[in-house]
Amino acid sequence: MTRKGIILAGGSGSRLDPLTRIACKQLLPIYDKPMIYYPLSTLMLGGIREILIISTPKDLPAFRNLLGDGRQLGIRLEYQEQAAPEGIAQAFLLAESFLAGAGAALILGDNLFYGKLDFLRSALGLQQGACIFGYHVRDPERFGVVEFDAEHRVLSIEEKPRVPRSHYAVPGLYVYDGTVVERTKKLQPSARHELEITDLNNAYLADGLLEVRLLGRGIAWLDTGTPASLLEAGNYIATIEHQQNLKIACLEEIAFNQNLITRSGFEQVIAETRNPDYRRYLEGVLAEKDRIASFSSPASASVSPVETSG
Ligand code: DAU
Repeated sequence: MTRKGIILAGGSGSRLDPLTRIACKQLLPIYDKPMIYYPLSTLMLGGIREILIISTPKDLPAFRNLLGDGRQLGIRLEYQEQAAPEGIAQAFLLAESFLAGAGAALILGDNLFYGKLDFLRSALGLQQGACIFGYHVRDPERFGVVEFDAEHRVLSIEEKPRVPRSHYAVPGLYVYDGTVVERTKKLQPSARHELEITDLNNAYLADGLLEVRLLGRGIAWLDTGTPASLLEAGNYIATIEHQQNLKIACLEEIAFNQNLITRSGFEQVIAETRNPDYRRYLEGVLAEKDRIASFSSPASASVSPVETSG
């Protein structure tokens, strides 16, 4: 099934005020890149090539300025305003003409995933229904929470329950089939006047069409909602990038490694990169590709491909 991507990057970001007076939350830095690079990289690594970015009327121009039409990354980016934050599921109503009946993968613009993304690629292969994930957390009451029975069958998803029935939170990454827009149209706004993503997931569940896959310890799901968690996420990325000397969510590198752009396209990106350190890094990516290609004679030992960015 064709699957298109949506990044929801609106909201008021009030818990990060006054930082969010300068730029909206999803444009704030996570170490060396704007936050939105991370969810965008997740969709790209999942194999999604057409992506709609939804944000406020005030902030949308800044995203467009940053990422353009996506051509430089070999993908297609479109933009859509959300006039008021009327719920995460509203994204599907706003995306109706963009989706044009295709299935969707929605990622929240403030959700960071790091690790092997096979769980996403396999969910994107789903032919029918919806797939969401469960992630063990310390403080499930802050999230959508999965309730299981004794056989680990999913009974319900509860939005920010006061007494959570498990430690499994639902991260902000959701995969749906082509019925998502029609199902969203049937939802009623909640008491806080929002179209709730949890209600959409429960609608799929009621029809026996919701899969919840639990993510293990090999995946990092990082929160960025408060100044402390923003700093922690930045430190996490910095630590790994420093140790490996490989970047996480370097969009240009991902585009090149996934053959979304040609060698000359990549060289052009390098030439246009103003930050000398970032440029040197991209030059290193090119040199490494050449080095590996020069070894690929039948006599040399084989090297397994490595996922270089999470
Ligand atoms: O992060 C995962 C959690 O995200 C899920 O476990 C919850 O089920 C889900 O409701 C959501 O909870 P949050 O408390 O994080 O939702 P919040 O209202 O803060 O919105 C999440 C992001 O989406 C935030 O960066 C702002 C953006 N947003 C939100 C709404 C409601 C929009 O762009 N537009 C909106 O209308």
